[in-house]
Amino acid sequence: MKKIEQILEDNKKWAGNMVAGDPEFFNRLVDIQHPEFLWIGCSDSRVPANEITGTQPGEMFVQRNIANMVIHTDLNLLSVLQYAVEVLHVKHIIVCGHYGCGGVKAAMGHTSLGIINKWIRNIKDVYRFHRAELEAIPTEQDRLNRLIELNVKEQVNNLAKTSIIQKSWKANKAPHLHGMVYDLKDGILKPVFQMEANTPIDPIYQYDNL
Ligand code: CO
Repeated sequence: MKKIEQILEDNKKWAGNMVAGDPEFFNRLVDIQHPEFLWIGCSDSRVPANEITGTQPGEMFVQRNIANMVIHTDLNLLSVLQYAVEVLHVKHIIVCGHYGCGGVKAAMGHTSLGIINKWIRNIKDVYRFHRAELEAIPTEQDRLNRLIELNVKEQVNNLAKTSIIQKSWKANKAPHLHGMVYDLKDGILKPVFQMEANTPIDPIYQYDNL
């Protein structure tokens, strides 16, 4: 386990290496950020957004929570989304789940975990929407993997249900929404679902006064 002093020391080394490779690196980033991507990922320490996508500081706006959820009462997520879409004008939003996700696994279980129950309950709803497909899968492992994929798909759909996205689609034909699942075993991102800007959505969720 790294000690906190080591964290500070390694930070100095990293900053030194960045400047050695590109003397203007930090100067360029001081005043402005122009990321083209918003990443909504799991808080899991094994799925770091920048490292697995080879992106540098300044290239990706990041929001992470347990099981990469898009919940319409989450002020944190909604604030990040609004800023990313209306101020930064990101071109793409990536919702990234990962196989082996403890949050999704917990949602398939029946153990009370306190406050986390309320968060996880949203994944139980995803299970309920897709119960027939999931319960036709013979092994628990495969069922979990499929729920992880379906959860990503639902969260992409949840983005499209927001007035923030619908307004931007109408005005700017952006951003495009992408659902991916990361495999901890080989480090590969698998695209599982996507919605180009202005993809028709279920009319019940459409706002017509934006
Ligand atoms: Co996870």
